[in-house]
Amino acid sequence: MQEPFDLLIRNAQIVDGTGAPRFAGDIGVRAARIDRIGDLAGHRGRTEIDLAGRIAAPGFIDAHTHDDRLLLSGGEMAPKVSQGITTVIGGNCGISLAPMPRPVPQPVTPPLNLLDGEGGWFRFRRFADYVQALRRQPAATNCAMLVGHTTLRVACLDDLQRPATEGQITQMRALVQEAMEAGAIGVSTGLFYEQAVAAPTEEVIETCRPLKDFNGLYCTHMRDEADGIMDSLAETFRIGREVGVPVVISHHKLVGRANYGRSEETLAFIRSQMKLQPICLDCYPYTAGSTVLSADRAATSARVIVSWSQALPELAGRDLADIARELGVSQEEAIGRLQPAGAIYFRMDEADVQRILQFEDTMIGSDGLPHDASPHPRLWGSFPRVLGHYSRTLGLFPLEQAVHKMTGLTARKFGLAGRGVIAEGAHADLALFDPDTVDEAATYAEPIAPARGIDTVVVNGRIVWRAGRATGARPGQVLSRARHGEAA
Ligand code: ZN
Ligand code: CU
Repeated sequence: MQEPFDLLIRNAQIVDGTGAPRFAGDIGVRAARIDRIGDLAGHRGRTEIDLAGRIAAPGFIDAHTHDDRLLLSGGEMAPKVSQGITTVIGGNCGISLAPMPRPVPQPVTPPLNLLDGEGGWFRFRRFADYVQALRRQPAATNCAMLVGHTTLRVACLDDLQRPATEGQITQMRALVQEAMEAGAIGVSTGLFYEQAVAAPTEEVIETCRPLKDFNGLYCTHMRDEADGIMDSLAETFRIGREVGVPVVISHHKLVGRANYGRSEETLAFIRSQMKLQPICLDCYPYTAGSTVLSADRAATSARVIVSWSQALPELAGRDLADIARELGVSQEEAIGRLQPAGAIYFRMDEADVQRILQFEDTMIGSDGLPHDASPHPRLWGSFPRVLGHYSRTLGLFPLEQAVHKMTGLTARKFGLAGRGVIAEGAHADLALFDPDTVDEAATYAEPIAPARGIDTVVVNGRIVWRAGRATGARPGQVLSRARHGEAA
């Protein structure tokens, strides 16, 4: 009699993450790995799950998150595992929790305050200290972390309205080197933000120099996602070429009515440039964005919802227009009274979102903001929305393609070895779900809600989500990028 599997999943339709058509089979897991796939009718498992024809997919990889602090302060990762996510990429948009080699300036500089408005969490002097904390107190999901250029600027510059000096660039470069040695997978920038917009292209290139030796990634919330989008793409590609590393265009989108429809132009440019250098992109499946509250972003939006406010916390979740009316002040004055604050901005075109989602090299990322009082629904809903609304209901692409965009493609681009596929020997990260009912439950009005149709979620062979709740297991690992893996 054969030794039973630790976990045996019977009667699955297996969507393996490569984009290949689904097939029927059983999956046997031993310890943290997938041991056997096939007809395992004669076998037993210490834990058995009969899927009765429902789907087994690789656990989803959230290509774009701001979970740096959540991994430590909310390690059950409920907004993530409830969607089937088993790995998060953190440190995006120039914002990382580490390193902060000096006391973080108070009040916490936006957009760093999206991670922590008080500042106590910016306590890791070296990136290695942060990685050690993640390992000592594992979360439910795996993670792979970027180091943020805006964090480095806050750490090294006293005046963020200026380019970094030679000496400051040398300091930032040393911090990038330390982060990469400690296991970071690359650098992110948020050149769009007021705190980084003064950084010339050369500052970014010189700061990112250490990436090449580590096969690191350059991920960017680009300088301009509106009228200047083509220049921003060109700048991103130049940084990638000069540093000699792959680039990831974060949450690709076109902002503002004047730019609606221009994804035809941007995707054509990306496609042609992909022949010359490694490029990929991620996207969240909504027409509203979310970040810190500002008057110019509000002015270019059709609607604004306040997602949090330090000054007037009771107004989180309300429309800015209603708040201004009730206070009897202008929208601008209302914004001033709410600060510091965050917001959800409706200023994208549905046709662009769909075109970008359909692009073959687009990965799914949530860009969720886990500490917002009334968060954008993308935090809890992104992945099931792609599977339910976009794949099943609208038929934008088959389920196999949807899963590929959240698993195999993402693992390959981020160089996460043995992840993102269901294969013998691969890590046992799994999302088990019902293809007929899987969908988002989170809405703009009720943004905190676990997805529908997700049965069971497994990370490194351990069940982290089952029957609508977190199990409390914390098997997450800190993942590194394969040094000689595919160059995205
Ligand atoms: Zn961003
Ligand atoms: Cu972001």
